[in-house]
Amino acid sequence: MVKMRVMQVTRPGGPFELVEREIADPGPGHVRIKVEACGVCHSDAMTKEGMWPGIRYPRVPGHEIAGIVDAVGEGVAGWTRGQRAGVGWHGGHCGYCDSCRRGDFVTCQIAFQVTGISYDGGYADYMIAPAGALALIPEGLSAVDAAPLMCAGVTTFNSLRNSGARLGELVAILGVGGLGHLAIQYAAKMGFRVVAIARGTDKEPFVRKLGASHYIDNNDQDPAQELLKLGGARVILATAPDNTAISAVLDGLGVNGKLIIVGVAAEPLQVSSIPLIMGRRSIMGWPSGSPIDSQDALSFSVLTGVRAMTQVFPLERAAEAYDLMMSGKVRFRAVLTTAQ
Ligand SMILES: NC(=O)c1ccc[n+]([C@@H]2O[C@H](COP(=O)([O-])OP(=O)(O)OC[C@H]3O[C@@H](n4cnc5c(N)ncnc54)[C@H](OP(=O)(O)O)[C@@H]3O)[C@@H](O)[C@H]2O)c1
Ligand SMILES: [Zn+2]
Repeated sequence: MVKMRVMQVTRPGGPFELVEREIADPGPGHVRIKVEACGVCHSDAMTKEGMWPGIRYPRVPGHEIAGIVDAVGEGVAGWTRGQRAGVGWHGGHCGYCDSCRRGDFVTCQIAFQVTGISYDGGYADYMIAPAGALALIPEGLSAVDAAPLMCAGVTTFNSLRNSGARLGELVAILGVGGLGHLAIQYAAKMGFRVVAIARGTDKEPFVRKLGASHYIDNNDQDPAQELLKLGGARVILATAPDNTAISAVLDGLGVNGKLIIVGVAAEPLQVSSIPLIMGRRSIMGWPSGSPIDSQDALSFSVLTGVRAMTQVFPLERAAEAYDLMMSGKVRFRAVLTTAQ
């Protein structure tokens, strides 16, 4: 039996372990993917540290997968061996609940699955996913370029394109990490006036190159006051996993402004109700996107040149890549590759 390598976690908070497993065949409705690249997302902490309820260990994290369809299970229509495919955080849905029938697969309440949590993900040579979780990767994107777009990319692309902000309006991106550095690029390419908010001054020249026309150092400046000086934000996309920092930007929303939270923080969010009410401001969360949203994010990236800045690691150095990401030192997305 031919073997594959996986980087698994055997208990919440446990270390990554490199082990060999048999390469399984995909069951009905499933596809096996030969993983070429897998991004290391901050949300992999949910698997690694056991922050998501009910995870069954050992588990292989990874939901920013780019690879090649390697085997197709019974009853799968539309996918053939050799096609380039990606799998993101959205790892499957029921197809028949009210949300799915409306085409909103990400809010499926019946059988929503998360890649790398509900089943093994992409820190591996091969992975198996439901066919409904796959996105087609276009020509013009390498696997290393495509992988981070399968979560960091689609989450920011999709939240921004559904944000209600219009051309020329002020859009602020809080947190310049894996998601944030893509969000700045998407927001600029979508025609918004972009403000980047990050700690310290070292990221300023970089975010300006990515398309931000304003920079706020939230260590040294009051980000809400600075946003108001610019007229108030139509949208603030919060990618920083820190609700203290998110609370601090809230008053920088303009009238009808919207705070969209994608970063996952442990502590509760502090909100004052009067500014929300008087300015008809709103707060919403945004969960990634469906596979067709991912395809749109990939195509938009090819069209506009949006790319993640990546640091590439071989699969067996997943622990190092993960630690670098968790310490905020990665520039700006770690990507694991399986080539030996
Ligand atoms: N909603 C969704 O569908 C979805 C999808 C993917 C990820 N996520 C979540 O989104 C968050 C970001 O993920 P990621 O992969 O981009 O993580 P990441 O690469 O680790 O980046 C997080 C960034 O947030 C910045 N940050 C943290 N605290 C800050 C503060 N007080 N002020 C300003 N910046 C701050 C960090 O900056 P420093 O460099 O200063 O440390 C870091 O660059 C995570 O919580 C992740 O779980 C959600
Ligand atoms: Zn993710």
